Amino acid sequence: MERTLLVCGTFRMNLTSPSCAAGGSERLMQSLRDELAARSLPWTVGRSVCLGHCTIGPNIKARGGPMLHHCRAEDAAAIVARLVAEWQVADEEPATVAACDWPAPGS
Ligand code: FES
Repeated sequence: MERTLLVCGTFRMNLTSPSCAAGGSERLMQSLRDELAARSLPWTVGRSVCLGHCTIGPNIKARGGPMLHHCRAEDAAAIVARLVAEWQVADEEPATVAACDWPAPGS
Protein backbone atom coordinates (compact mmCIF):
# COMPACT_ATOMS: atom_id res chain seq x y z
CA MET A 1 0.00 0.00 0.00
CA GLU A 2 1.27 3.45 -0.88
CA ARG A 3 1.84 5.62 2.16
CA THR A 4 -0.35 8.68 2.27
CA LEU A 5 -0.61 11.41 4.86
CA LEU A 6 -3.91 13.25 4.86
CA VAL A 7 -3.72 16.66 6.47
CA CYS A 8 -6.98 18.36 7.39
CA GLY A 9 -7.28 21.54 5.35
CA THR A 10 -10.61 22.71 6.67
CA PHE A 11 -10.94 26.40 7.44
CA ARG A 12 -13.86 27.81 9.38
CA MET A 13 -14.92 31.40 8.79
CA ASN A 14 -16.26 31.61 12.33
CA LEU A 15 -13.22 32.67 14.34
CA THR A 16 -14.64 31.18 17.53
CA SER A 17 -14.60 27.69 15.99
CA PRO A 18 -11.19 26.07 15.76
CA SER A 19 -10.03 24.61 12.48
CA CYS A 20 -6.87 22.97 11.24
CA ALA A 21 -6.28 25.50 8.46
CA ALA A 22 -6.55 28.36 10.94
CA GLY A 23 -3.96 26.50 13.01
CA GLY A 24 -1.44 26.29 10.17
CA SER A 25 -2.22 23.08 8.29
CA GLU A 26 -1.19 24.60 4.93
CA ARG A 27 2.30 25.30 6.27
CA LEU A 28 2.30 21.85 7.86
CA MET A 29 1.61 20.19 4.50
CA GLN A 30 4.50 22.02 2.86
CA SER A 31 6.85 21.19 5.73
CA LEU A 32 5.90 17.52 5.51
CA ARG A 33 6.51 17.52 1.74
CA ASP A 34 9.90 19.18 2.28
CA GLU A 35 10.84 16.66 4.98
CA LEU A 36 9.77 13.68 2.85
CA ALA A 37 11.78 15.02 -0.10
CA ALA A 38 14.84 15.51 2.12
CA ARG A 39 14.54 11.87 3.20
CA SER A 40 13.73 10.63 -0.35
CA LEU A 41 10.54 9.04 0.97
CA PRO A 42 7.94 8.56 -1.79
CA TRP A 43 4.95 9.26 0.45
CA THR A 44 2.05 11.37 -0.65
CA VAL A 45 0.74 14.34 1.33
CA GLY A 46 -2.84 15.31 0.59
CA ARG A 47 -5.46 17.66 1.95
CA SER A 48 -8.46 16.13 3.65
CA VAL A 49 -11.80 17.39 4.75
CA CYS A 50 -12.49 17.78 8.47
CA LEU A 51 -11.28 14.74 10.39
CA GLY A 52 -13.61 15.40 13.30
CA HIS A 53 -11.02 16.45 15.88
CA CYS A 54 -11.11 20.19 15.30
CA THR A 55 -10.24 21.27 18.84
CA ILE A 56 -6.99 19.27 18.88
CA GLY A 57 -5.67 20.04 15.41
CA PRO A 58 -4.01 20.51 13.12
CA ASN A 59 -4.63 16.82 12.49
CA ILE A 60 -2.95 14.27 10.24
CA LYS A 61 -4.37 10.87 9.32
CA ALA A 62 -1.80 8.36 8.13
CA ARG A 63 -3.78 6.14 5.76
CA GLY A 64 -3.91 2.68 7.31
CA GLY A 65 -2.16 4.06 10.40
CA PRO A 66 -2.49 6.49 13.26
CA MET A 67 -4.13 9.88 13.50
CA LEU A 68 -1.87 12.58 14.89
CA HIS A 69 -3.06 15.70 16.71
CA HIS A 70 -1.56 19.09 17.58
CA CYS A 71 0.77 18.84 14.58
CA ARG A 72 2.73 21.97 13.66
CA ALA A 73 4.88 22.78 10.66
CA GLU A 74 7.97 22.97 12.84
CA ASP A 75 7.27 19.41 14.01
CA ALA A 76 7.47 17.93 10.48
CA ALA A 77 10.85 16.24 10.99
CA ALA A 78 9.73 14.67 14.27
CA ILE A 79 6.41 13.59 12.75
CA VAL A 80 8.09 11.86 9.82
CA ALA A 81 10.72 10.27 12.07
CA ARG A 82 8.03 8.91 14.33
CA LEU A 83 6.00 7.54 11.43
CA VAL A 84 9.07 5.89 9.88
CA ALA A 85 9.67 4.13 13.18
CA GLU A 86 6.11 3.25 14.15
CA TRP A 87 3.74 3.30 11.17
CA GLN A 88 2.79 -0.22 10.25
CA VAL A 89 0.70 0.07 7.10
CA ALA A 90 -2.35 -2.16 7.25
CA ASP A 91 -3.76 -3.78 4.12
CA GLU A 92 -7.10 -2.20 4.86
CA GLU A 93 -8.25 0.85 6.74
CA PRO A 94 -9.19 -0.11 10.32
CA ALA A 95 -12.87 0.16 11.18
CA THR A 96 -12.12 2.59 13.98
CA VAL A 97 -9.16 4.89 14.47
CA ALA A 98 -7.75 5.54 17.89
CA ALA A 99 -6.18 8.89 18.59
CA CYS A 100 -2.49 8.69 19.24
CA ASP A 101 -0.83 10.31 22.16
CA TRP A 102 1.02 12.90 20.13
CA PRO A 103 2.25 15.53 22.57
CA ALA A 104 0.57 18.91 22.81
CA PRO A 105 2.39 21.94 21.38
CA GLY A 106 5.19 23.15 23.57
CA SER A 107 5.45 19.94 25.57
S1 FES B 1 -11.09 21.26 11.12
FE1 FES B 1 -9.51 19.77 11.08
S2 FES B 1 -10.36 18.10 12.13
FE2 FES B 1 -12.01 19.49 11.94
